[in-house]
Amino acid sequence: MAYDVNIGAVHAAARSLAPGEFASSGAVFLRRAAKEKITKESRVSESERIIAQTENYCAHNYAPKHVVIATGEGARVTDVDGREYFDMLSAYSALNFGHRHPEIVAAAKEQLDRVTLTSRAFYNDLTGEFCERLAALTGKEAVLPMNTGAEAVETAIKTARRWGAFVKGVPEGRQRIICCENNFHGRTVTVVSMSTDESARRGFAPFTEGFDVVRYGDAEALERAITPDTVAFLFEPIQGEAGVILPPDGYLKAVREICSRHGILMLADEVQTGFARTGDMFACDHEGVVPDVYILGKALGGGIMPVSAVAADKDILGVFEPGSHGSTFGGNPLACAVALKAMEILVRDDYPALARRKGEKFLKELSFVKNEDILQVRGRGLMTGVEFRIPAAPYVAKLMRHGILAKETHERTIRFAPPVNIPDEQLDEAIRRIKAALSQ
Ligand SMILES: Cc1ncc(COP(=O)(O)O)c(C=O)c1O
Repeated sequence: MAYDVNIGAVHAAARSLAPGEFASSGAVFLRRAAKEKITKESRVSESERIIAQTENYCAHNYAPKHVVIATGEGARVTDVDGREYFDMLSAYSALNFGHRHPEIVAAAKEQLDRVTLTSRAFYNDLTGEFCERLAALTGKEAVLPMNTGAEAVETAIKTARRWGAFVKGVPEGRQRIICCENNFHGRTVTVVSMSTDESARRGFAPFTEGFDVVRYGDAEALERAITPDTVAFLFEPIQGEAGVILPPDGYLKAVREICSRHGILMLADEVQTGFARTGDMFACDHEGVVPDVYILGKALGGGIMPVSAVAADKDILGVFEPGSHGSTFGGNPLACAVALKAMEILVRDDYPALARRKGEKFLKELSFVKNEDILQVRGRGLMTGVEFRIPAAPYVAKLMRHGILAKETHERTIRFAPPVNIPDEQLDEAIRRIKAALSQ
């Protein structure tokens, strides 16, 4: 690339700011950046300018790759300097419908011209329809709408605790929830209280109590951890953030059986795996298993806005009464219009079948890549992980040079999750580029 400015220097300058400096002054950053020879006279591309601006003014809670996306359509995005890429990460499955699906955009625009937000103090004409439709899709009796995935997880935790106290009869304050090593359920204090990832926890104590951690994929460990105070088991049917970790065959069935036998709730976090990503409508379908509570998010928002929910039967969700839980934006009419259209397309166009068919091809083709650094290629549907023996970042950079956007998770695994509706010829082209970038 013909830049005479090193973006690494921009990052280094931003990182070298003391916390107070970061909070108080962009000028300090610019002085330091100048020292690193990032001057107005430098031939700075639009991407570099925006990256520097973002690093200066945004908290550094992410480490984005150096591409600045300006537009997106379907599976393709274009950066501010006009370079085109295939988006093979899809906002961690929030873009199962691709960027700006025309029907979802049209539904949003139509709703923008009617009403977007109503106080939950009143009814609106879409929340009920949305809940009914999502209940039907999950086979559950009721739905509690929220916004982000982490909020849906929080909602499931509150549901399980109340159910434990009110229905199961565990003394209030004693309810415990079992979760898994290397889980990822979001970023709130309660949610990171379950995390076994030190970088997600450091400095955020005191944590929420009441969680027990067991090894993922180990049904016996789950059973051993259950006590009379246990009210639920919370897990991901495939661990996404941990590096597309598939549990052993039979795990989901065993979990279902253990939860039923011990009278505890099975809480499936399908925020990332749900809505067709893994080749079934929900990843639990793979073993014909129905959890007590579905935790849903990401793709439910059609790639347009945050929409999340929990779905369960009334003997479970009935533990809430007015005032016990809620969210100003949860179930707002704009979100409902978007999610209703997304669910319509999901079923009408049989997205699970699309993910299955395209995913099989993708996985097969990637397993042909010859590279000593690759330890394993694994996945289900269109949720694929390529695990390396070494840090994967250099390969991610190589993929970008081939016009492929993806990112490593947990340092060594590159997750590929293209939009489920990526056209066949685009998928073929993406596969060709990935093979070129990853082959030795
Ligand atoms: C399995 C799972 N649960 C919950 C979340 C949190 O969702 P959000 O980022 O919308 O809060 C994520 C996000 O990646 C996730 O993968």
